[in-house]
Amino acid sequence: MEKTALRNAIENNRDVTKLGEVASYIPELAKGNRDALGACIFDTGGNLLLEGDYETKFTIQSVSKVITLICALIDNGKEIVFSKVGNEPSSDPFNSLLKLEIEENHKPLNPFINAGAIVCTSLVAGDNGIEKFTRILNMIRKLANNENIEVNYPVFRSEKLTGNTNRAIAYFLKGAGIIEKDVEDILDTYFKCCSIEVDVEDIARIASVIANNGIAPWSKEMLIPKEVNRIVKATMSTCGLYDSSGKFSVDVGIPAKSGVGGCIMAVVPNRMGIAVVGPSLDKHGNSVAGIKVMESLSRALELSIF
Ligand code: DON
Repeated sequence: MEKTALRNAIENNRDVTKLGEVASYIPELAKGNRDALGACIFDTGGNLLLEGDYETKFTIQSVSKVITLICALIDNGKEIVFSKVGNEPSSDPFNSLLKLEIEENHKPLNPFINAGAIVCTSLVAGDNGIEKFTRILNMIRKLANNENIEVNYPVFRSEKLTGNTNRAIAYFLKGAGIIEKDVEDILDTYFKCCSIEVDVEDIARIASVIANNGIAPWSKEMLIPKEVNRIVKATMSTCGLYDSSGKFSVDVGIPAKSGVGGCIMAVVPNRMGIAVVGPSLDKHGNSVAGIKVMESLSRALELSIF
């Protein structure tokens, strides 16, 4: 049943990829394949399903913000993290600076907009950017059960060269006293996290751990403390797709996180992790066909938690 639903969701939505564009504001991302569409389900019983262009490699981009939040929460506790970043959805684009100046204490609205993720990056344990990055990369490798995950350095260099809006956000946060230490070092860590190269199986495995209350389905090892896992699921469900999070909740109804590399990571509590890749994006920066695939799967498998 799941196999058929996954196949139909991919094959019936291939044409939707033509309705969007590959991200080009980071020049290296423009090399992504606009037509690609692939998906993976990894369920909490440890079963794997792959469909469509599942071999497509892509950079994790903003899906990394989930793992950065996990590390920041484990390393600091929720009181410290949420004294520096809020939990409210944003109706602005992911890279917006608009609310930073007017919000109380200049706190970014949530951990999944760029400003909030830069704050969480600064909170991850480590004396410098390299140590913080190593902590996040190791967590991604553990959650994906894949020691071979690495950074795509051409994408990293491209992000670093063109990331002026992120630079403006980070210097503002430093001026407001929300981030400490060296701003360029934190930005390098943030850019490197976005540039980690993965495939849909890696992301579906990460999602399956979150779906399974923080326990890896393949080893039964507790990788995310239960309370951290609960906060992460809640934040994905309210803020995961930026200014289209509300619509996604109505149409699909499960915690999810998108990235401009074209991935959507989705968590069906106690059932499965799902990853879709389709680098063609809508105007919000979400995979245009990926959202349709998620809608089809949600209908066919009754995934909505609401
Ligand atoms: O900060 C940026 O511009 C990117 N490296 C990550 C943004 C992203 O994936 C937003 N997601 N939809």
